[in-house]
Amino acid sequence: MAQDAAPPRGAPISDIDPFTPANILDPYPWHQALRETGPMVWLSRYGVFMAPRHAENFAIVADHQTFCSSGGVGYANFFKEKPWRQPSMLLEADQPDHTRRRAIVGRILSAPNLRGLKAGFEVEANALIDKLLDQGEVEAVFEVSRAYVLKVFPDAVGIGASGRDNLMKYGAMVFNAFGPQNDIFHDSARDLGEVSAWIMEQCEHKNLRPGGLGDQVYQAVPSGAITADEALILVRSFLSAGVDTTVHAVGNALWSFATNPAEWAKMKANPGIVRTAFEEVLRYESPFQTFFRTTTRDVEIGGVMIPANEKVMLSVGSANRDPRKFERPDAFDVSRNLQGHVGFGYGIHACIGQMISRLENEVLLTELARRKVDFEVCGEATRTVHNTLRGFSKLPLRFTQN
Ligand code: HEM
Repeated sequence: MAQDAAPPRGAPISDIDPFTPANILDPYPWHQALRETGPMVWLSRYGVFMAPRHAENFAIVADHQTFCSSGGVGYANFFKEKPWRQPSMLLEADQPDHTRRRAIVGRILSAPNLRGLKAGFEVEANALIDKLLDQGEVEAVFEVSRAYVLKVFPDAVGIGASGRDNLMKYGAMVFNAFGPQNDIFHDSARDLGEVSAWIMEQCEHKNLRPGGLGDQVYQAVPSGAITADEALILVRSFLSAGVDTTVHAVGNALWSFATNPAEWAKMKANPGIVRTAFEEVLRYESPFQTFFRTTTRDVEIGGVMIPANEKVMLSVGSANRDPRKFERPDAFDVSRNLQGHVGFGYGIHACIGQMISRLENEVLLTELARRKVDFEVCGEATRTVHNTLRGFSKLPLRFTQN
């Protein structure tokens, strides 16, 4: 299992395995243990360095020249092994190609360019809320998070209405592949060939609705800013990174508010705080828990010397609950002064889809709060056993209106 890595120099060592189902389901105790172990910890089971504290997570993502992404942002080191798919042209790319492509996609996913989507998201959110109030008790992962995100996001990208379940399957493959090749990864990769073929077909220009976000990527081809091959893989990054993450975020938001009714009362009293409230969800229950970098040179960080070409694991979930950075980190508090959480990453690879993901979440939460809808957990909630993302596979909720 361990990578072909040099032995650690000066790093505290831990045999904690972040990727067992038990540790995935309950990460906060071992996050705390690792934060206390040191700023950089050698995970002996995997032969990688991990940054459990906020300061080093931040410093590493801020230094993209030393900690690069083209070696893969998962456990696999693309400089030593063949990637399982053609690498992402944003997430798994370095400058200068990354900068050129990001300029195009960044414009398409910018707040001004997305403004026109808000009214449609509000219509969908309200239709969904009507249905939830009619039904009362629902399984919220399928009937809220997936129902909403699988409608509004692919509509915005401009892909067809059928087969959208494949987006969930593909997201699970992509994000589980960021971990080790364990049973969790193999289970999610069962329909790899079929699902990947479906995804690639959706990304072809002829299959994208004119004017949608996907089509807008292809519109940059005639100017020579990107090639048609790049456009295809850039549209693929919308579909791989944009669905599962946001589905988990919606579920985590519902769970966080359902189990902290005083915080939901603040939202109902003042839906205008939605922006900060959603940021607090990302900090408190970070949907994207871990990713990796590869060192391009020998580097000292946190008092530890890391040789070149080593994988470094970043723990977003642990950084976002580091008491060195956040007061009472284990409390869900929508009125906290929240700055510097790394739920969307930071630096040149910071989430490029954050504006549309915020829009999806903020619209749904705002409409629920504005209509004075309450929700409570009414059965056993089950979390997803996932190498990278944190969220629910089952979340029974009862919706009422007061
Ligand atoms: C709440 C939902 C989301 C979360 C928590 C999230 C989280 C993240 C994080 C932490 C990163 C940084 C990864 C790294 O530095 O290696 C990232 C990058 C990225 N995200 Fe998101 N994301 C979300 C939604 C989306 C959406 C909706 C899209 C697509 C529209 C998207 C597309 C991307 C892409 C393409 C990158 C790579 C950017 C680059 O390398 O320049 N994400 N995301």
